Amino acid sequence: MSIRTLDDLLAEGVSGRRVLVRADLNVPLDKQTGAISDDGRIRAVLPTLGALVEAGAKVVVCSHLGRPKGAPDPQFSLGPVAGRLGELLGAPVHIATDTVGESARSTVADLADGQVALLENLRFNAGETSKDEAERGAFADQLAAFGDAYVDDAFGAVHRKHASVFDVPARLPHVAGRLVLREVEVLSKLTADPERPYVVVLGGSKVSDKLAVIEALLPTVDRLLIGGGMCFTFLKAQGLEVGTSLLEKDMVETCRNLLERADGKILLPVDVVVADAFAPDAAHDTVRVDGIPSHRLGLDVGPETVAGFSAALSQAKTIFWNGPMGVFEMAAFAAGTRGIAEAITKADAFSVVGGGDSAAAVRALGLDESSFGHISTGGGASLEYLEGKTLPGIAALEN
Ligand code: 3PG
Ligand code: MG
Repeated sequence: MSIRTLDDLLAEGVSGRRVLVRADLNVPLDKQTGAISDDGRIRAVLPTLGALVEAGAKVVVCSHLGRPKGAPDPQFSLGPVAGRLGELLGAPVHIATDTVGESARSTVADLADGQVALLENLRFNAGETSKDEAERGAFADQLAAFGDAYVDDAFGAVHRKHASVFDVPARLPHVAGRLVLREVEVLSKLTADPERPYVVVLGGSKVSDKLAVIEALLPTVDRLLIGGGMCFTFLKAQGLEVGTSLLEKDMVETCRNLLERADGKILLPVDVVVADAFAPDAAHDTVRVDGIPSHRLGLDVGPETVAGFSAALSQAKTIFWNGPMGVFEMAAFAAGTRGIAEAITKADAFSVVGGGDSAAAVRALGLDESSFGHISTGGGASLEYLEGKTLPGIAALEN
C-alpha cells in the first residue's frame, strides 16, 4: 500500500504543528437520555490521538455524528463525545461550538502544544456531504486551514466522498492513522487469500443493503450463513410463508436467483423465534420455518439454527460476521446473536466482526472483545471494502 502513515508523520516531528485528525466519533446515543451507549469508536481512535499528544502536536479533531441535514441541530452535538474523549485521554478536550466559524477559529488558535480540540459536527455544514465539488471544496478549504497536516483515522467513514474524508487530504500533507491502517491490513487478509474454510455470517434487517456484498462474496466464500431480519426474504424465496416478519417483496426474486447460483453455499435458518408484536415483553415461541403463523413475526433465529450455524463455524479457519441474528437489544430475542457470537469465539479461526451494530452487540452482550481477531469500527465501510469498491477516503490517501 502506497500510503504514508502516522509513524512517517511522527518521524518528521509534529511538536508545535497543528494536526487535523478526521475521526469517526459517530457513537450510538441512548434515545431517552442522549447518553453514549457504546464508546467503542472513541476508544478506537485513542492510539492515534495519544501518539500525537505525546509528540506535542496541536491536535484538531473533527467528526460527524448521526445524519443532521447540513445545519446545526443540538441533538447531534459532539459535546457529550468531547466529555467522554477527555475522560479517556485523561486531559481536557476543548470543544468548539461550530465547525469552521468564530468558535472553531479561536479554539484552534488558543491550543497549546499537546492539547486537543474537537470541532462541532461536520454535518452541521452543507459543504461536508455536498455532491457539488465546488461546495465541498470551499468547506474543505476552511477545514484545511486548521491543520499543517492531516490524519485520516475515520475508518467508518472512508466509503463516503465527503469534504473531510476526500477533499481535505488533497489540500494538506496526509497520512493514515493507526486505526485506518489496522482495519485495512485486516480486511485485505480477507480479500487476498483467506485461509479455508472461509465462512461469512450476515444478519441485519435488509437484503437490499447486503446484496452487493453477497454477490461479491459468493464466489469467494465456502459457506454463507444468513440470519437476522433479512433471512425472511430468503425464506419467502424458498416458497415459505413468513407471517408478518420483515419482508422485502421486491427482493424475493433476487433472493431466489442467489439461492440457485449459490450451489448450496448459503445456509438459512431452520427454526425462528416468532412473537405477537415487536416489543420486549411480547408473547413468543420457537417454530420451524415452515410453520410461521400468519399473524406473528420472526425476531430471532432459533436454537436448532444456532446449532447448525455453530457447526459450520467450528470448521472455519476464517470468519467474517456482519449484522445481528435477531433483535438482540431485547433480551427475549438475543439468544441467536449471542449463540453465533459465542460460536465465533470458540472456532479456531481468524475472525473479523464488521460493523457498528455487530460490534455494539458484542459489547452489549458482555462478550470478551479480545476473543475475536478484529472488531471493525466500520459497518458500511468494511462491507464496501469486501465488495472490492474503491473507497474515496483510502484513494485520497494514496495520492
Ligand atoms: C457509520 O456509522 O456507518 C459511519 O459513521 C458512517 O455514517 P453514515 O452511514 O451516516 O455516513
Ligand atoms: Mg452507516
